[in-house]
Amino acid sequence: MRILLPLLLVCLLAVSCVQQRKSHFTIGVSQCSEDQWRERANAELRREASFFDDLDLEIRSVADNSEEQIKDVEYFIDRKVDLLVISPNESSALTPVVSKAFRSGIPVILFDRKIDVEDYTAYVGADNRLIGVEIGEYLKTTYAGRPRFNLLVLRGTEDSSADTERYEGLITSLLDDRASKWQIVAEYYGNFTRKDAFSQTVAWLKANPDVHPDAVIAFNDQMALGARDAWNEAGGDSPVPAFFGVDALPVPGGGLEAILNGTLTASFIYSAGGEQIIDVARRILNHISFERTNYLNTASVDLTNARVLKLQLDQIDKAQEKLDAMSGRYQESMQLSVVQRHYLMAMLAILILAFALMGLIFIFYRRQQLLSQRIKSRNETIERQVTELEEQKRQMEVLTADLEKSTQAKLSFYTNVSHEFKTPLTLITGSLEELMDKPGLNAPTREALQVINRNSNKLMSLISEILDFRTFESGQMRVQNEPLDLRAFLESFNPMFQDMLRRRKLKLVFNVSDAAAFRMMMDKNKIEKIYFNLLSNALKHVGAGGMIVVGLQRSEAVPMPHFQLSVFNTGSYIPPEKREEIFRMFYRMDTDSESTGIGLTLTASLVQVLGGSISVESDPAIGTKFIVDIPFQAVAELTPAREPEGESLYTRRRLIAEDEGISLQDDILDEAADPGKASVLLIDDNSDMLHYIKGLLKPDYRVLVAQDGEKGLGKARQYLPDVVVCDIMMPGMDGYAVCRALKESQTTRHIPVILLTACSLDEQKAQGYESGADAYIQKPFNPSVLKARIQNLMEKNESMGETFGNDWLLGRKIGASSESAALVSKLKSHVEENMDKDISVEDLASSLGLSKASLYRKLHEVTDQSPVDLIRLIRLRHAVNLIRYEGRDISEAAFKSGFNSASYFSRTFQKYYKMSPREWIKKNG
Ligand code: FRU
Repeated sequence: MRILLPLLLVCLLAVSCVQQRKSHFTIGVSQCSEDQWRERANAELRREASFFDDLDLEIRSVADNSEEQIKDVEYFIDRKVDLLVISPNESSALTPVVSKAFRSGIPVILFDRKIDVEDYTAYVGADNRLIGVEIGEYLKTTYAGRPRFNLLVLRGTEDSSADTERYEGLITSLLDDRASKWQIVAEYYGNFTRKDAFSQTVAWLKANPDVHPDAVIAFNDQMALGARDAWNEAGGDSPVPAFFGVDALPVPGGGLEAILNGTLTASFIYSAGGEQIIDVARRILNHISFERTNYLNTASVDLTNARVLKLQLDQIDKAQEKLDAMSGRYQESMQLSVVQRHYLMAMLAILILAFALMGLIFIFYRRQQLLSQRIKSRNETIERQVTELEEQKRQMEVLTADLEKSTQAKLSFYTNVSHEFKTPLTLITGSLEELMDKPGLNAPTREALQVINRNSNKLMSLISEILDFRTFESGQMRVQNEPLDLRAFLESFNPMFQDMLRRRKLKLVFNVSDAAAFRMMMDKNKIEKIYFNLLSNALKHVGAGGMIVVGLQRSEAVPMPHFQLSVFNTGSYIPPEKREEIFRMFYRMDTDSESTGIGLTLTASLVQVLGGSISVESDPAIGTKFIVDIPFQAVAELTPAREPEGESLYTRRRLIAEDEGISLQDDILDEAADPGKASVLLIDDNSDMLHYIKGLLKPDYRVLVAQDGEKGLGKARQYLPDVVVCDIMMPGMDGYAVCRALKESQTTRHIPVILLTACSLDEQKAQGYESGADAYIQKPFNPSVLKARIQNLMEKNESMGETFGNDWLLGRKIGASSESAALVSKLKSHVEENMDKDISVEDLASSLGLSKASLYRKLHEVTDQSPVDLIRLIRLRHAVNLIRYEGRDISEAAFKSGFNSASYFSRTFQKYYKMSPREWIKKNG
């Protein structure tokens, strides 16, 4: 495009230059008259001008009217023509405008007639004075033999130079006649026209019937012919004079023809001078020297030369015609050649354009080709990607459909299973209630039945929640409104909490705006579930000795009145980023194992079904408040609330489920138990589970319990139990963390830890062992397996534990003081320093600053071991360390540890490790 545009412009310019070749000069011609003579003059001017490409001619004519001619001249001045050719009608009338044109810088050529001043550039025409003189001379010659001759002078246009000068010449010539035989009998103006001459002469003839001129001298042929007509018309008997004219035009109706047919006697050639005018004009325009006055030749014509002249002029005319024809053809061919030249140029331009276009098309084509190749390859890539994406999409759809199907299948399976659970559970709870009502049940049986009852109710409540939620999810949850006094309905549940509140030292405030009436149409079942779920949530999170506030308010806001139920509890905080998540399915705020994660979700669903909204406000310093806004319809007549005739099943189950009712008295060591028994610390957040395991182990061990990880760790540090049995999933510190903490501490690392949990995944087991657990038992467990594992670990610890550190020496004595530990430590150091010597009890006692008796007593308090046994154990451990860490063989290690013989070492080893040293190395090496 950058090449094409300039090229196009150049071509167009070239063509337009050829087409618009402009004349360089414009010549304006102002004619004063419109007769044959003027026509001939105009024809000559046009012909001459046509020979020159650089001349444009514009001719304007008036009918012998000076005013009109002045306008024509003004027009040419305005048009700013390059040159003016003027034949002024009347000298004085036209002088000002001609001067103006001249003075405005337009060259002026006067022809045929003149003006009064010299304001013109050149004059072309016959010498009119000379014509007058020649007429006089001709008359004098013609009438030379006559004694006297009378003349009638028919003048032209008054005040025209042609008339004035001709008259002057005539009179001058006649006056020269010494004989003075001539007389002008009449003289009047005929305005150079046949018509005026006719009428004037007719008038004169009529006025002068007795005056008989010999000759009529008219200043042009047309007036002479007009006077001749007048004689025919009004001459009467008057003799016909001779008629003389001027012009001698060789055209039909012209002077020459009139001479030949005898109408005129003589005429004088008066040329228009078109050729000369154009010649002078071109010279002026092209600044070539020229003559200011250019007189044309004149000659008299009468019968003596008219025929010859006519012949000559005819010849000339014919030649002229041929010339004109040739010129016409020449013009045509010139025009043709111009047209051809135009065509040629146009063709050339088109050719150049065509080449340029072809070049551009080629370039475009190449670019297009490259572009389309690129687009094609890109399209192919895109198509490939689209196909891949479509395939992926299809696969995704299949997968999604499969997933949806399997999810649906799972969900309906769970729903069905949940339904299936309900029947046996109902049977269990029913039978239980019957059993519990039976008199004479002993305390342990009643306690066991209560545990079963509590957990059955809990299961029932969970199943109900799951089923409710499934109903909501499948869009089948229906609202069943009935008249209800909400305030009375909610307050009616208060007595049910009293026991629990008292036990947990909690305060429940029921805060209802008194003035408001809460009679409404409401789905009782759903609002009950909402209330108890919120309450259950508050009970779960309120700290001991805390407070729960239930608020109920009514608002008459449009478009529908609604009520606001809020449940506040102290002691819990939900950070802002979690406030939406808590309503999501399976979301658990902490690792609270008591929570199923469905309660709040179900609550939100129920609120939604009732057309309400739920929100939560929480402040770490104050507590957490759940707010529910639900619209309702008023009832005109409210039937008294039916509830609670007895508590609703849902409520009862929920409450029973919440109320664990466990006594944490067992937190402290059971002092009544046999102090000689080994101790086991149970850590589990489920109080029923604690009770159950405690019951299992109580006959054989002293049992300690803790309801969360942190408390458990504290008790382990405080009491140093023989074995720790710990649940994994607990709120706060989980089982892994407890285990890790125990194993990282010098004081507690020797305590075997059994992780007891429902988590069955291999990774979870691995994680358990990585945290240092000694055993991992999966729930539900066989009680004898648990007991055997505890026993087993205890024995192992007894025999192996002494391998490392001196902690083992603290043995079973729970509550050993740091003073005892210091004593054992000193003893150990003394033995280790004297490993290669015999060490007597006396030496040992004195090195510890004690008497033999007090050494026995103190050691017995701490370790249950005699000093000799202790010395032997320290030596044995030293030997084991040498074998294990220094790669010594058995006998070398034995001797280095103060054993006098290898067999004594082996016997001692066997006693403590229940295996030979070789077996031990095989197992532990
Ligand atoms: C034409 C004419 C001629 C005459 C001349 C005088 O208009 O009348 O016949 O010779 O003008 O100016």
